[in-house]
Amino acid sequence: MKKIAVCPGSFDPVTLGHLDIINRASKLFDKVIVLVSFNPNKSGAAFTVKERMEMIIETTGHLDNVVVDCYSGLLADYLKHTGAVAIVKGLRAVSDFEYEFQMALANKKLYDGAETMFLTTTGENMFLSSSVVREIASFGGDITDFVPASIKDRIFDRLFDQQKSKTEE
Ligand code: PNS
Repeated sequence: MKKIAVCPGSFDPVTLGHLDIINRASKLFDKVIVLVSFNPNKSGAAFTVKERMEMIIETTGHLDNVVVDCYSGLLADYLKHTGAVAIVKGLRAVSDFEYEFQMALANKKLYDGAETMFLTTTGENMFLSSSVVREIASFGGDITDFVPASIKDRIFDRLFDQQKSKTEE
């Protein structure tokens, strides 16, 4: 039977840190579903779900066993429906751990088949997050080292314009 893993997240937008985890997960599983999910603790996304999916599709196109999907329900239910056997997440620092550990236990409680696997992030991505990218770009900073070249301008233009129209209000 094919082993399917799910890499869930907000991906607002996808970063090189996410792509490193997706790339490594694709070597461990037969199929990886990158799932643009809804995080109720985060409001006011910079990119629509469709835009986030487009950017992930564009930057994972070279990985044959990676597909992109979105879901607005519980991750545990998505695993149940798809037959995925694992949730794969990146861990950057101890500060990530408490939240991720709680999520992993909650998902396992909701669906016993939901096993969470953590991949440690690489040293250079330790500080990297979508929110760091959003903040740097919105103030006109250089995000070259943080996001794939093919989507850099798209991300920069949107965030810079958004910030400009906020400060002009
Ligand atoms: O990139 P993020 O925002 O840290 O990802 C968090 C995400 C979206 C994976 C998480 O909020 C999630 O799983 N949302 C779906 C709803 C759910 O199943 N929550 C966990 C059960 S308590």
